[in-house]
Amino acid sequence: MSGDRDSRALDTVGWDGDAPTGHVRLVDQTLLPGEFVEIDCRDVPTVWEAIKSLRVRGAPAIGIAAAFGAVLGGQPAVGRGLEAVRSAVKAAGDHLRTSRPTAVNLFWALDRIDRVADSETTGDAVAFLERLLAEARAITEEDKAMCRSIGRHGAALIGPGQGVLTHCNAGGLATADYGTALAVVFAAHEQGTPLRVFADETRPLLQGARLTAWELQRRGIPVTLICDNMAAQVMKEGKVDLVVVGADRIAANGDAANKIGTYGVALLAKAHGIPFYVAAPSSTFDLTLEDGSSIPIEQRDPREVTHGFGRATAPEGVDVYNPAFDVTPAGLIEGIITERGIIRPVNADTVAEVLGISRPVVKDYRLV
Ligand code: MRU
Repeated sequence: MSGDRDSRALDTVGWDGDAPTGHVRLVDQTLLPGEFVEIDCRDVPTVWEAIKSLRVRGAPAIGIAAAFGAVLGGQPAVGRGLEAVRSAVKAAGDHLRTSRPTAVNLFWALDRIDRVADSETTGDAVAFLERLLAEARAITEEDKAMCRSIGRHGAALIGPGQGVLTHCNAGGLATADYGTALAVVFAAHEQGTPLRVFADETRPLLQGARLTAWELQRRGIPVTLICDNMAAQVMKEGKVDLVVVGADRIAANGDAANKIGTYGVALLAKAHGIPFYVAAPSSTFDLTLEDGSSIPIEQRDPREVTHGFGRATAPEGVDVYNPAFDVTPAGLIEGIITERGIIRPVNADTVAEVLGISRPVVKDYRLV
């Protein structure tokens, strides 16, 4: 390993080339674990579709993809000067904001691009677009550093020989390269702590089975795949010592939205006396929301439930409800592992203290 990079790091999403002619490159996660394919996105609609269809997914990764996507949006306007590029980039960002509603990292990253776009008033159009690309690259590099730091803070929570249950995928594929919940596991493993991960398969789109199991296997970390409805039994059998999951949006009081099913896992953990941790960077906090009740929950296509992976598994025309996320109340969370330290106990005061902000929450305030 040199510095913070290692050979197993995943280049989940990035940019190839210069600002006026380059493109977004991302791992198409819908094809995993069967195929590892990188795709090039050369216009905004392609990036929008990649986010919507979960080719790129996971809160930090979609924020990074959107930031690069906004740069793509400025390319056709380069010949028309700085003002034209600025409005094209902003229009691209506005469109990308409509791709998925729950993960706040998407809006946080686009807000950063907008702020830079607003602050540059002089220079030529190419230099302006290069400046925006530099901001998108900075978001990517900061995410890598935040994930490594989350791993460092969380590794000690896992004792030798312990079982760790996780839900969905909060690994390298969901971030710039190292993950959040899985960063804790990776860091403990790298420190020589023997452990076993129980990966919930994560119905309906199987991020746990397809992505988390794949990531852990490729790093040589023992992993046991279970169906979501097996978690209670596995806990009752004493195989799980702690739960660590990621998050898509965390309110000021610590209520945390994550993949549908996470709330149920938190309740099960409470019932079995197992500590339940959330791992997330500061870019996942939405301090404009006092609690989780107003976190927007994405509703997805019923066919993900009735026709998962190409085969009808329910009668034609059946009514389906398919929320993609749920909110775990702060009271069920033992601690939130951030790049700035562990928030524990979880409440509005400790969130503000660890993130280094003062209460009360200011509307429209975004952590930078
Ligand atoms: O619908 P997805 O696959 O984008 O949902 C992802 C999750 O719920 C992750 O747990 C979350 O984004 C954290 S990723 C570090």
